[in-house]
Amino acid sequence: MNKIRVKGGRPLTGKVRISGAKNAALVLIAASVLAKGESIIENVPFIQDVEILLDILRGLGAEAGWLSDDTVSIQVPDQIDFHTPYDQAKKLRASNLLLGSVVGRRGIAEISLPGGCNIGSRPMDLHLKGLQLLGFNTQLEHGYIKVKAGSLKGNDIYLDFPSVGATENIMMAASVVPGQTIVENAAKEPEIVDLANFLNAMGARIRGAGTDVIKIEGVSELKGIRHAVIPDRIEVGTFMTAAAITRGQVTLENVIPTHVQPIVAKLREAGSKVWEKDDCIEVVGSAQITALDIKTMPYPGFPTDMQSQFMALLSLAEGTSVIVENVFENRFQIVDELKRMGAKIKVEGHTAVIKGGHNLYGTCVKATDLRAGAALVLAALAAEGETEISQVHHIFRGYENLVEKLNGIGAQLTIL
Ligand code: UD1
Repeated sequence: MNKIRVKGGRPLTGKVRISGAKNAALVLIAASVLAKGESIIENVPFIQDVEILLDILRGLGAEAGWLSDDTVSIQVPDQIDFHTPYDQAKKLRASNLLLGSVVGRRGIAEISLPGGCNIGSRPMDLHLKGLQLLGFNTQLEHGYIKVKAGSLKGNDIYLDFPSVGATENIMMAASVVPGQTIVENAAKEPEIVDLANFLNAMGARIRGAGTDVIKIEGVSELKGIRHAVIPDRIEVGTFMTAAAITRGQVTLENVIPTHVQPIVAKLREAGSKVWEKDDCIEVVGSAQITALDIKTMPYPGFPTDMQSQFMALLSLAEGTSVIVENVFENRFQIVDELKRMGAKIKVEGHTAVIKGGHNLYGTCVKATDLRAGAALVLAALAAEGETEISQVHHIFRGYENLVEKLNGIGAQLTIL
């Protein structure tokens, strides 16, 4: 599974059922380490990142596995191991989410600095600052982050940037630290709200998730529960963009429309028609795509995880578009690949200028990261001729059945 061949030029039409959110599933699986008893999580996408995290949990001594094709069960012994080795952590950036949960359960955690997408330096300073303010001692030694409980007490924590991962790690650890913790300038992503709902059902006391101030009253113990993951808003955005770029007509089911408002707004600006219903969205792409400007921002701003897909779309727009990437400093690696397909893009610092009005044509390209890989699939769907995309393991990390779902609405993708 190292390459995907795409025959371009066919409008996509039909219905797609959206899977559970990768970024919510990963943090909920990590959070289940905090619970005594079994946690059952439904609507989990069957993707490599989830498989790797379950494997890491098994390595720590948990019983973790699939009950059905979208439901996992996790049961963690009291004496769960606290050491996640390099060989496992390097495969998955989200392994850093075990910091808050393992230290919350065991009072100690050692995790190799995580791997994941190469889209920026991705420091951990805000995670560690938060844990230190709760009374944990933290150390960086031989490539490992080591965290140990000192004198634990809730505290006021101001995040310099509303980091998703730091907010999540602090929420998990603070749930079982005595006293009140207040996180200011917290991340507001829907995945944060899903985590708060999950932890609260386990017995935690968290208020304000989804706003920039989250209040957590520590409790002594959390118990296992059953919970269903929210739909994946980035998968929704990717398929909406697929409809727009191929001038197709696609209905997406199992969607929470409010989670994708910034993407819907930009697709309408680009000329697509978008209809929102209770839990589905229909997109009809227009023959002419209009150029537009995008600035990526933390939620509810335009998501950095949709930036590459829109760059592919805007390569075909009439006029010049400008994308400013404000979240990750190294997220324009796709530019060279899109240029190989005929796109006209110039990058200066955090800004990309896309001169549209040119056709894309098929060639050989490589997926440099997860979302760039998805964006190349979109570009290839709209391109003349055949495109061969290599390094597609990045795509399978985060999209459940992407090839099958696209072929089900008229695409022609082959896994080589
Ligand atoms: C999560 C998502 C990822 C998404 C990103 C931003 C998961 C598993 N991944 O990643 O798909 O693209 O949110 O929406 O949920 N930062 C610091 N210090 C820190 C932590 C972060 O400076 O301690 C910076 C990062 O370098 C980056 C920015 O904050 O520039 C945002 O990162 P963050 O929100 O933490 O992203 P992740 O949680 O890693």
